[in-house]
Amino acid sequence: MRRMDFANRTVVLGVGGGIAAYKACEVARLIVKGRGKVRVAMTPAATKFVGPLTFQAISGAPVLVDLFDGQAEPSYGHLQLAREADLFLVAPATADLIARLRAGMGNDAVTTTALAVTCPVLIAPAMNTRMWKNPAVQENLAALIVRGWNVVGPGAGVLADGDVGEGRLAEPNEIATAASRLLGNLDLSGRRVVVTAGPTREPIDPVRFISNPSSGKMGYALAAVAARRGAEVVLVSGPTALADPAGCRTIRVETAEEMARAVEEVAGGMDLFIGAAAVSDYRPTTSAPHKVKKGAGDETLQLTRTPDILAGLGTRFGGKPDAPVLVGFAAETEEVIAHAREKLKGKRCDLVVANKVGGSGSGVGFGSDSNRVALVSSTELAEIEGPKERVAEAIVDWILPVLDARRPRAQPLK
Ligand code: PMT
Repeated sequence: MRRMDFANRTVVLGVGGGIAAYKACEVARLIVKGRGKVRVAMTPAATKFVGPLTFQAISGAPVLVDLFDGQAEPSYGHLQLAREADLFLVAPATADLIARLRAGMGNDAVTTTALAVTCPVLIAPAMNTRMWKNPAVQENLAALIVRGWNVVGPGAGVLADGDVGEGRLAEPNEIATAASRLLGNLDLSGRRVVVTAGPTREPIDPVRFISNPSSGKMGYALAAVAARRGAEVVLVSGPTALADPAGCRTIRVETAEEMARAVEEVAGGMDLFIGAAAVSDYRPTTSAPHKVKKGAGDETLQLTRTPDILAGLGTRFGGKPDAPVLVGFAAETEEVIAHAREKLKGKRCDLVVANKVGGSGSGVGFGSDSNRVALVSSTELAEIEGPKERVAEAIVDWILPVLDARRPRAQPLK
């Protein structure tokens, strides 16, 4: 897998003392599989969960646990690891380890290495959900983020102690992908991506319009993630309160017809289209030039269909062997998966990202910072929940192999 390429890179893995320590073995294995070098430092507590010999076997190198190891210390073992590291990854990071990292302590092999590294740093927290929500843990992590630490996870689900909620160590694949990306592995480099985001506004008169509550957050997250992963991104956005995402060309539009025209202008050489915009399906047939005055009784508004941007691209490209990958969203209030499957077929997309909308206070969908979606393709159904950035990463992860298979690159990634 190209995005897991760690060739010529050294990842120093700091393992904390939690039940999820066994998953760090799989992370180490993925890095080695990606042709990377792994060096491991463990806290004494971590060795209660997994023996250093296991990591030694996977990494093919001695594991640093004891700061007073007479064999390792003549070469300043704790500093040697920091010197070698292209990336320092702490997984799992327990509440205690996060607190000690934040405090700048150096009382074991992991914290001492952390103090000495100058490379990018990535932390994968894992703990009970109530501990995770504790303000002390959140404050400690926030302080590390301010200092430049990158965070992957935690995920949500059933935890080792039976509690359900956030706190599970991110999946090894997710951690390795985040690590690979921090090492500058730009898996979308050379790709042209068009994303639509936000609502459209269909004017009734100069001061009134038909619209919907889309904030643009989901589409902007997708555009930002694609740009960070090396793509040349054009974001076609309806009216939002959001700033243009870094590294993207943003085209601002108001109506569905303007959005359709803007997409048409940039669709030519694209490799991937993601339609996250909530495009109005109808517009008032006529838009009054001046503010409409209220009459004595009820009024009837005549509506006309707007162009369906995604369906238009499906008709133009769908089924062609080198077609751009087409990804649509489905915002549904009921029968979410069934409607998503209809859209997948009807609009000839490769993937439909289905989300339930409409329930007030659900914390997902329109306007919120998080989303809960199902990825619906002709062969798969996968569910993802989390901050919109993380959902966007997972959507791009899904797209990548489809894109690479359909439009293989001439040049391998550096
Ligand atoms: O913007 P946020 O506040 O972050 O909220 C995110 C979101 C809920 C808006 C987003 O996740 C989402 O679901 N976007 C699609 C909403 C929608 O309009 O769904 P739809 O089922 O009506 O349309 C299906 C697909 O066709 C979508 O990809 C849409 O962009 C596209 N479409 C629809 C109509 C039209 N005229 N042209 C289109 O391209």
